[in-house]
Amino acid sequence: MSENLEQIAKENKIVVRDLMKVYRRGTKEVIALRGIDFEVKPREFLSIVGPSGSGKSTLLKLLGALDKPTAGVVLYDGHNVTLLDDFRSIIYRRRQVGFVWQTGNLVPGLSALKNVKLPMKLAGTSGQAADERARTLLETMGLENRIQHKPHQLSGGENQRVAICVALANKPELLLADEVTGELDTETTEMVMEALKRINTDFETTIINVTHNPRVAQYASRVLRIRDGLIEGQRHVLYGDITEIDAKGRMVIPETVRRLAGIEKRVVLKVTAQGLLVGPLEYEEQEQHSRSQDDQDTET
Ligand SMILES: Nc1ncnc2c1ncn2[C@@H]1O[C@H](COP(=O)(O)OP(=O)(O)OP(=O)(O)O)[C@@H](O)[C@H]1O
Ligand SMILES: [Mg+2]
Repeated sequence: MSENLEQIAKENKIVVRDLMKVYRRGTKEVIALRGIDFEVKPREFLSIVGPSGSGKSTLLKLLGALDKPTAGVVLYDGHNVTLLDDFRSIIYRRRQVGFVWQTGNLVPGLSALKNVKLPMKLAGTSGQAADERARTLLETMGLENRIQHKPHQLSGGENQRVAICVALANKPELLLADEVTGELDTETTEMVMEALKRINTDFETTIINVTHNPRVAQYASRVLRIRDGLIEGQRHVLYGDITEIDAKGRMVIPETVRRLAGIEKRVVLKVTAQGLLVGPLEYEEQEQHSRSQDDQDTET
């Protein structure tokens, strides 16, 4: 049964459907995401947890339009970000999304204040407005006494909090955080997570936070578990390996996929706006086919 995606998109900040990502390394293919479906409500604080290599960072990059999926859609306010060209992706990232990475995204030679002002400068905010907002953000993070410090003069947790300020500089509606507390001790982790929670409530920023740590995940209002490129507890179509189409137009559809799609020996091909739809023969068509087959059999 087809769902009303338009209606779902209206009720959610983000809608992800059938998201799949295959990386090619030479002749080898790694399937990082195998068909992911989920939604994120406006102002929600969502955690994504899962073992190393399960596809968390890949997913975050696709949500932030830093990379293109192999298949599937990411709707942000109803717009498909997977279709944005390079220029529009940059605009989307600059206006709508803030990123915080585990490795930090600060410019080493600049003070905390200048680091936070930088993205605003790039977006054309006036000097004074940028200065005021940067100071407010740093204060919110408890860094009012560190604004002139450069990254190497700050602790890991302080650097991460500055990085969060950088990500929030242009007032993004969505904050994507990847293992921001990965290398912090328990106390600093709590401080950073409390700061994220405050941002979520005070600025109404939608937050998606990727983590290994179950305690960190608990700060969110909902936890999504991902394993081997799939969300746990959901029914998924396993795409199997991507197959080549040979010179005669033949391709291999894995057995699991055929079973889930109800496809047996004969299929109907339909060209749709999304691509080629390979569907099962409709019941009636199958009936018709077997009737005409019977007729033929009696004639001979
Ligand atoms: N650029 C790339 N080229 C090829 N393979 C990649 C690339 N990026 C990720 N992968 C592979 O895709 C899979 C998912 O990687 P991803 O980085 O999304 O995992 P992760 O859940 O973020 O792991 P971790 O918790 O260790 O950060 C892994 O098998 C990884 O080796
Ligand atoms: Mg990762």
